[in-house]
Amino acid sequence: MSSSAPAPKAAKGDVKHLYTVVVLGASGDLAKKKTFPALFGLYKNKYLDQKTHIIGYARTKMDQATFEGHVSKYIKIKTEEDKAALSQFLKLCSYQDGQYDKDQDFQVLEKEIQDVEKTSGATARLFYMALPPSVFIPVATSLKKNNYRKGVVTRLIVEKPFGMDLDSSRKLAKELGALFTEEEIYRIDHYLGKEMVKNLMILRFANVIFGSVWNRHSIDNIQITFKEKIGTEGRGGYFDEFGIIRDVMQNHLLQILTLVAMEPPVSLGAEDVRDEKVKVLRVIPPIEKEDVLLGQYGKSVDGKEPGYLDDKTVPKGSKTPTYAAATLYIHNERWSGVPFVLKCGKALDQQKTEIRIQFKDVSGSLFTNLSRNEIVIRVQPNEAVYVKMMNKEPGLGMKTIISDLDLSYSSRFNDSVIPEAYESLILDALNEDHSNFVRDDELDAAWKIFTPILKTIDQGEIDPTVYAFGSRGPEGVSEFVAKHGYSRG
Ligand code: NDP
Ligand code: BG6
Repeated sequence: MSSSAPAPKAAKGDVKHLYTVVVLGASGDLAKKKTFPALFGLYKNKYLDQKTHIIGYARTKMDQATFEGHVSKYIKIKTEEDKAALSQFLKLCSYQDGQYDKDQDFQVLEKEIQDVEKTSGATARLFYMALPPSVFIPVATSLKKNNYRKGVVTRLIVEKPFGMDLDSSRKLAKELGALFTEEEIYRIDHYLGKEMVKNLMILRFANVIFGSVWNRHSIDNIQITFKEKIGTEGRGGYFDEFGIIRDVMQNHLLQILTLVAMEPPVSLGAEDVRDEKVKVLRVIPPIEKEDVLLGQYGKSVDGKEPGYLDDKTVPKGSKTPTYAAATLYIHNERWSGVPFVLKCGKALDQQKTEIRIQFKDVSGSLFTNLSRNEIVIRVQPNEAVYVKMMNKEPGLGMKTIISDLDLSYSSRFNDSVIPEAYESLILDALNEDHSNFVRDDELDAAWKIFTPILKTIDQGEIDPTVYAFGSRGPEGVSEFVAKHGYSRG
């Protein structure tokens, strides 16, 4: 069901400026798989001005034909119309190779941008840094020096990871902050562009039935789970430096947590929303060692799938976790005592991201053998919201049975198309809407929660439990979630 967005206007009004988009790291994986397909989706559906030029920049040498092949590789063409749109889109794409720290190369890029601006009439520039973090600052410095023009609206999209810990994140924020203003910077966390994540505020604040029970008086525990079937496949080198907590939990899952837990913002304005997210993060104490369970995948049971340590790019004997479960507590009036269990892992039995809100047991003894109510928000795949509730089993008698109130998007909204997260976020950036991007103080608060436990892990103080590729995760996960309140129906 996930595909590019349908035609009508952008929800938040038309983009004010005509941009030139520059993708730095254009030869890479993210650019190929996500950035170019998202830009094409926006172009095809006319969210992007039809005169918008896209310039790719990276060190790799590529002629126009090779670049076009790279841009189109992951673009899905279903109709003749798509084919025609792609052919038009490619005419707007050009590529320039250059180093990341050479003024000369960025001056050639500047000339290209200016030429393009003359043709298109563009008055604004969006720089998308689809680059490894090691070159964020050299590239931002080169851009500021050579491609930043007074009076030209400039936006900079930066990809995660935003540092390795509190200190490095602060250093990055300081260095980037010396070059570009917070208004110009868009720190992307693509989970904030996912349909069901964007739905969280509506579910919570536009429904009396949910809003009134969304607190410690009714809720027992909350589980936020990310599972992936693939291993680190080819990204072992990068991954080993970061581990699953930095790769997924500290950013994607924590962002979901803030939206589940924050107080209602004063308005939907970006700063009001982000103020509330920061407030909730600031009352979460650092994670304790006993509230963490780590795993690392080994070979599959049949021996066909390799273990993490079999990857040649992974250092021998690495203790980097590919699975982590961690329990966080929010010390405020709404959530005091409610465990938020975050779980994420690679090379597991299924692909799924979901939020599971489990309610307390019913008081009294009118009925026996009751399962707890749950609200489940399935982020992916097959977006859905369902409520697990007790019902009378149809027939004679008064037997209870657990059943679902089910809002599956595929049946309820089967003629709607769910936009890709990156389409939604690039459009937000073009609209100068920061609500779904990470603010610097939000990042700081997030790192404070995770830095101490990451230090412990980096020092090798916690041995990850090995689990088989394709399994449900390390032994002890069920006990871990049960210890933190989860009751299996
Ligand atoms: P890549 O490793 O593919 O790097 C992108 C480009 O940067 C490469 O094509 C290469 O271009 C250049 N590059 C690579 N390594 C170096 C280096 N050591 N020094 C200088 N330049 C280098 O990265 P991705 O595209 O996978 O990711 C880009 C960013 O997006 C990262 O910050 C990543 O964390 C983030 N991200 C990626 C996701 C994905 O699915 N891939 C998902 C979410 C976030 P050239 O050699 O031509 O200059
Ligand atoms: C990225 C992580 O940020 O998110 C990857 O670096 C992970 O390791 C990916 O696979 C998951 O994103 P999605 O959208 O496929 O769930």
